[in-house]
Amino acid sequence: MSKLTLSLAPPPARPLRWLMSAPLWGMVAGAWLLLQGDAALLGRWSLQTVVLVHVFTLGVLGNAMLGSLLQFLPVAADTAMPLDASLPWLHAAFNLGLVLFVLILPHGAGSPAMPIASILLGLPPVVIALAALPALLRRGPQRMLRTGIGFSLCALVVTVAIGLLLVFLLRGALALPLDRIADVHAVSGLLGWIVGLMVAVGSVTLPMFQGTKTVPAYWLAVWIALCGIGLAAGTVLYLAGGAQAALILAVSPAALAFITASLWLSWRATRRRDTALPWFWRIGTLSLGAACLIGLSGVAWPLSSQSVLVAGMLGIGIGLPMMLIGMMLEIVPFLAWIRLRRGCPRGIRIPGAGVLLPECDKYLVLVVHLGCAMVLCGAAGWPALARGAGFVLLLTYAVTFACLIACLRRAGHFLRGRLAQHMPR
Ligand code: HEM
Repeated sequence: MSKLTLSLAPPPARPLRWLMSAPLWGMVAGAWLLLQGDAALLGRWSLQTVVLVHVFTLGVLGNAMLGSLLQFLPVAADTAMPLDASLPWLHAAFNLGLVLFVLILPHGAGSPAMPIASILLGLPPVVIALAALPALLRRGPQRMLRTGIGFSLCALVVTVAIGLLLVFLLRGALALPLDRIADVHAVSGLLGWIVGLMVAVGSVTLPMFQGTKTVPAYWLAVWIALCGIGLAAGTVLYLAGGAQAALILAVSPAALAFITASLWLSWRATRRRDTALPWFWRIGTLSLGAACLIGLSGVAWPLSSQSVLVAGMLGIGIGLPMMLIGMMLEIVPFLAWIRLRRGCPRGIRIPGAGVLLPECDKYLVLVVHLGCAMVLCGAAGWPALARGAGFVLLLTYAVTFACLIACLRRAGHFLRGRLAQHMPR
């Protein structure tokens, strides 16, 4: 199992500003559903739905994953992350770009501000990916782990590039098949970038945080090959005029392999931990699995627009966020602990991560996300429930944010208390 090099951990504020933005965007998703009502759940091509998709994929998942990556790369993957001073600007540009994207897109992509919003949104993840890649691709220890992270960052760059192309298509600047390109954009983002990073980072965090057996490096190698070949072959077949089924069948093996391994490892954990995280992970994986099975059934018979929405909600609105929120509830107290470790004079006993964010708080967040998941599924099936679901979603992420803030405040109180005691009278 890989070890953590805490001395290489960046100042906690660096990953924290990204991580703490994720639940705020969850609240924005709730407010959006509350304001837009069933207009946001009428069909995948409605611009209100596309906005909701990106509030989740970029706001909640994007911030959470880029934040985790800034912590994980130096500490667990032995990979230095350059860009020290510019990271806060990249965070500001990314989130400002998303705010503009959310405000402009429902009125059509023709607005003169849309290219600015898309570049503000697209540039930061590309800069972070390109800055990390050289160190990730060098020879040395943990080669497979770094290759896996490198693969997912390449998928992110491709996804952003296609996203920018889609904006130009919506502006009528180019005449290309928008639906096919949007599908390729969606699978490269969801499977290549998000699931790809979870596979790589999960190979370290599952044994570490969930007590599962160690994930052999060759598992990672096989998955990366399966995913890479599936994405490439599916894209070529589909864009060359083939049926959507070609893309679905090409990417399904990698998706189903992740879901099977993720569930199998977590259920068969050798050193079981009675904590909330394994339940976030299992329920998230099951929800993602249900979304994949609905998608796969689209090969046998055409999917109704409602079932496409239900699959989207199960995967993007419930499954992936639950797995990442579960991880964030481990990472944020760990960062608060590092802040205390560095802030307190040597010899001072500091509270552990489990004290800074107790399991009972994590179980509270789990229960509200479970309740929210059921309401969101209901709303995806019956859009008339959209406003109610929006309210529950807003509350759910407000509770998540409040628990994370409480953790940081506990650490802040402790630090101030200790420093006051050590101040020369
Ligand atoms: C700079 C970044 C991005 C931009 C500018 C962008 C832009 C777009 C646009 C314009 C569409 C909709 C096209 C249409 O109306 O059909 C779209 C669809 C989509 N995008 Fe992105 N995107 C970006 C990043 C991402 C990322 C990182 C992900 C996933 C991780 C993602 C996931 C999706 C999905 C799932 C759809 C399909 C939505 C639907 O069918 O309702 N996007 N994107």
